[in-house]
Amino acid sequence: MVVVNHVARTPSSAQSAQTENRNIGPIILLGPPGAGKGTQAKAIVARFGIPQISTGDILRANRAQGTELGKRAAAIMDRGELVPDELVCDMVAARLAQPDCARGFILDGFPRTVKQAEWLDGLLAKSAASAPAPVVISLKVDYNDVLRRLAGRRSCPACGRIYNVYFQPPRVPDVCDVDGSKLVARQDDSEAVISERLKAYEKQTLPLADYYRRRGRLREVSGDASVEQVTAEILKAIEHDRL
Ligand code: AP5
Repeated sequence: MVVVNHVARTPSSAQSAQTENRNIGPIILLGPPGAGKGTQAKAIVARFGIPQISTGDILRANRAQGTELGKRAAAIMDRGELVPDELVCDMVAARLAQPDCARGFILDGFPRTVKQAEWLDGLLAKSAASAPAPVVISLKVDYNDVLRRLAGRRSCPACGRIYNVYFQPPRVPDVCDVDGSKLVARQDDSEAVISERLKAYEKQTLPLADYYRRRGRLREVSGDASVEQVTAEILKAIEHDRL
């Protein structure tokens, strides 16, 4: 069994008020660990009412539930390396087959290798001739900011909301503003694992920017500004491509 659906991936009723019926198609968020992909994906969910598909979240959910996939991925994730392409692609295929992806979806943390990107292009070409081509947003963030963001990240295990002790603290330290759960730090946000994740990013994921640039799909957005400013730039880029 592979767990593909889990917490907080659908818009709240307040968020749904802003949704619409347009076919938004695939939105891909690229960027190093800590760039703000997960944070921004939630803002895109709120704006367009399409689901966030975070491969990291799905792998962590499988791990927490002790599935075969979760067991195979656990040690790899703890070392800060990438899970093999075929495991991740099968997992994404299962998730994209869910009905809530019909109007579009946000890929957060996928693709992460050129092989994954080629696989995704093949799948999209087969699945819906009428679906728009992906909008690929590449978030650029200063290296030192990335380190601070990851070291200060906390998240809510119940609703998935992301905080940062330096930049986006909760109202009460270590407590979720939304549901009062105790916030947790991610297992792979230790200094040693962060360094390995950044190495994997440089070597395996950075070449993806060129892959999409050559296809005329890459939209570069500075991720160094405030969360709200970055969101505004991303929404502008999506609207520009989708109008
Ligand atoms: P994954 O969960 O995808 O982690 P990641 O890519 O390393 O990205 P993060 O989730 O760490 O960062 P983010 O960019 O989402 O930043 P966030 O919004 O949280 O992957 C984990 C592991 O799973 C991988 O190492 C690998 O083993 C495996 N895996 C996953 N996908 C895979 C794939 N496709 N193939 C193979 N293996 C795969 O923000 C970070 C912090 O910064 C937060 O505290 C936030 O509050 C803060 N922040 C965000 N924006 C701002 C801002 N503008 N200003 C100030 N602070 C901000």
